[in-house]
Amino acid sequence: MNDIDKKSLENAKELFSSGAINDVEIGTTKGLQQIHKYLFDGLYDFAGIIRKENISKGNFRFGNSLYLEEMLKKIETMNEATLNEIIDKYVEMNIAHPFLEGNGRSTRIWLDLILKKNLNKIVNWENIDKKLYLQAMERSPINTLEIKTLIENNLTDDLSLESVFKGIETSYYYETND
Ligand SMILES: Nc1ncnc2c1ncn2[C@@H]1O[C@H](COP(=O)(O)OP(=O)(O)O)[C@@H](O)[C@H]1O
Ligand SMILES: [Mg+2]
Repeated sequence: MNDIDKKSLENAKELFSSGAINDVEIGTTKGLQQIHKYLFDGLYDFAGIIRKENISKGNFRFGNSLYLEEMLKKIETMNEATLNEIIDKYVEMNIAHPFLEGNGRSTRIWLDLILKKNLNKIVNWENIDKKLYLQAMERSPINTLEIKTLIENNLTDDLSLESVFKGIETSYYYETND
């Protein structure tokens, strides 16, 4: 893990331990921007800022920057009553990919806040294999079944700080190259 990622991991833990997480809006673009800003403040000059460039990963082009604001407004209005709806919303937010970097790490925290609010559960990221997770996310713009199965089978009602920290560490590990 490089120095930026290490510092960002500390920031992510502090977001929860400091209580700042309680000021984050749940399920909105603003909330995701708040999380991104906290994680990457002083590390990326675009912390919390919606991108103006187009980006892609593998063969997939994320939301076109020209329509990104429109996309994000629609995503905010998506329902969060059931696990199915919540993951649909998460998948759409991943397709939008509003930041130049750091979407995975910030959006997984955003997802956990939605799950906690509506289902009183969070994802047990520690139990989800990195390769399976990334494959399911690559597949998700076409078919959401894999990511839905993976998350459905790995929810926990342990909402303790310790459980959250383990999840964050795994989430950061997903984004390393080893
Ligand atoms: N080919 C793909 N198609 C769709 N989503 C992808 C693809 N590859 C990775 N992702 C998603 O994008 C995330 C990585 O986005 P990125 O902006 O690099 O965030 P971070 O810097 O936190 O890793 C992954 O965690 C995964 O959820
Ligand atoms: Mg990345």
